[in-house]
Amino acid sequence: MKSRVPSSATLSPAASMRRGLLFFILVNALIITTLVRNVFTLLTLLVEDASADAIHLADLPSHDASWIETRPQLIPKIIHQTYRNESIPAHWKEAHRSCVDWHPDYEYILWTDDRARAFIAKEYPWFLDTFDGYPYPIQRADSIRYFILAHYGGTYLDLDDGCNRRLDPLLAYPAWVRRTVPTGISNDAMGAIPHHPFFLRAIESLQSYDKSWVLPYITVMYSTGPLFLSVIWKEYMRSRPNSAARVRVLMPTEYNKSPWCFFTRHRGNSWHGKDAQLIFWMGKHWVLLTVLGFTLAGIVGYCLWRVYAKLLHVGAQYRSPTPPAVCLPNLSPSSSPQRCPLRIIIPFRGRMDSKKLDEENVIIGDPFFQVLDRKY
Ligand SMILES: *[C@@H]1O[C@H](CO)[C@@H](O)[C@H](O)[C@H]1NC(C)=O
Repeated sequence: MKSRVPSSATLSPAASMRRGLLFFILVNALIITTLVRNVFTLLTLLVEDASADAIHLADLPSHDASWIETRPQLIPKIIHQTYRNESIPAHWKEAHRSCVDWHPDYEYILWTDDRARAFIAKEYPWFLDTFDGYPYPIQRADSIRYFILAHYGGTYLDLDDGCNRRLDPLLAYPAWVRRTVPTGISNDAMGAIPHHPFFLRAIESLQSYDKSWVLPYITVMYSTGPLFLSVIWKEYMRSRPNSAARVRVLMPTEYNKSPWCFFTRHRGNSWHGKDAQLIFWMGKHWVLLTVLGFTLAGIVGYCLWRVYAKLLHVGAQYRSPTPPAVCLPNLSPSSSPQRCPLRIIIPFRGRMDSKKLDEENVIIGDPFFQVLDRKY
């Protein structure tokens, strides 16, 4: 008589299902944690109001011609702008002129494409391949401004930003950027001392952010544009919670929403395409999209679980075959009455290991028509 050996396959289906569920939840928790870790900075950007670093109205001298700035001027008196070539288009001429006229004592540099490339080739040759490889010209226009500020310091202004007063009060901060609504900072007007750690960090991060995100708008925004700079800014602030090297933030009211503010806005960016309109539409309907997103995630999660449970069920059947094996009547008188010379094993859904069966199955009962006993 062979002994009955309990095997691991005898784990009850319920227990095996529980183990599977636990595994399923763990794997999902791991995936969600990884995703959240990767977009954590983006998520925190949504709740960042920059108020801790805001340049307040009270800090700024009034817009009065008699007023003289007494704070130390840290940022060098240089205005940087970029354009393809020397001929600034007519619709930006007025804005450009206003900034030049307000600042006769400032150095003015227009960075044309040729000048920008020569500067990168000479001062930052390690970046030249990335710079040349950018698929969209706006990415070169974005990245060059971080290098210029990191290198020379000064104030960078987009060509569509006109000046409404002198920039001197902003030169009192080691670095400043402009806050955008609803979230993050913009890269269209910013200033810094040379080698400010924030802009050094930005130029050092550009290569690792040089990725394609299918839609040109997202690719530009996240590889070199305002979203890139906002993420770097957020990370930078996290690494320097109480440092004097923090980046100060010019809020919208001090920017261009009142008569005494710094800038005037002229015609907007021209590079926004169809996909940008889609993103703006998504921005407007973000509540709807969030609800849809969660619903979709729920449905996908549920379907995954159903598939997984099904696989688990089939797996359990593989591991614990329950063969209703039948022994036919023994027709030979010479053979042992306890033994069945002929066994027909009827496979029952899935494969069975016949060797294992031989060891585990024991014949009991009527020798003429016996059923193999098996723990079901
Ligand atoms: C500058 O670029 C514009 C736009 O591509 C072009 O129309 C213009 O002729 C260029 N000017 C010069 C001086 O090359």
